[in-house]
Amino acid sequence: MSAQSKAPTKGRRITAPDIRARKGGEPLVCLTAYDAPMARILDPHCDLLLVGDSVGMVVHGLDSTVGVTLDMMILHGQAVMRGANRALVAVDMPFGSYEQSPEQAFANAARVMAETGCQAIKIESGTYAADTIRFMAARSIPVIGHIGLRPQAALADGGFKAKGRTQAERQRVIDEALATAQAGAFAIVIEGVAEDLAREITETVDVPTIGIGASAACDGQILVTQDMLGVFDWTPKFVKRYDNMAERTDAAVSQFAREVRDRSFPSQREVYTMKRSDG
Ligand code: KIV
Repeated sequence: MSAQSKAPTKGRRITAPDIRARKGGEPLVCLTAYDAPMARILDPHCDLLLVGDSVGMVVHGLDSTVGVTLDMMILHGQAVMRGANRALVAVDMPFGSYEQSPEQAFANAARVMAETGCQAIKIESGTYAADTIRFMAARSIPVIGHIGLRPQAALADGGFKAKGRTQAERQRVIDEALATAQAGAFAIVIEGVAEDLAREITETVDVPTIGIGASAACDGQILVTQDMLGVFDWTPKFVKRYDNMAERTDAAVSQFAREVRDRSFPSQREVYTMKRSDG
């Protein structure tokens, strides 16, 4: 571990400059979080918690992230901030809240930061977003970019498709990476791109890259927490399941249902009795 890449001492919140300084150092551990109890569990293990707009699909059952609103992001951002006190908390800007103009992006990002207390925001950053990132970064908003597979563009793209697998697409993703870094993002999420391209981008840009379906060569990795915990039947190719929470929850709930029906729950251990001193 380089001197630059050491995690801050316990008790201090990780900041955007701390993350920026981890370029080429110890890999950044990042996960999504949407609520306080989960944030509390993840916080000691993670450098960065992302309140992703994936919350729309993961928690609210939407088909895409397009229906997620700024108010939803603020509510979940506030909950995560209550649960996490060490990791940097970044909140995603939802579809429609930043694309119109740099001024719109700044006003909405400032609201997210003021109302949640988060340390950074993330935007999906095609090359068109460079002016917006520059505008926000120059006005003290720490911005994380997001290139490659951009879920908010899934309807326009015809689905959630990996990027950079043809020559023309490779150049487009490289252009997105360069534009995002040069505009002042302090880190870049690279989602769903060919492995060698993610590696090349990581070697090219001077800010940390955080991969999801990208490459182990990235400066860090992020997954949707519920995907890696095995909450869903289906997950994308790039997800590794570290648990099987759906099956374990099913087993626990089925035991609860059985014990309610045969009246073995609650037992004497789980009920109140009269106080002895009561006359
Ligand atoms: O919304 C999200 O959770 C994300 C991550 C998948 C990077 O953008």
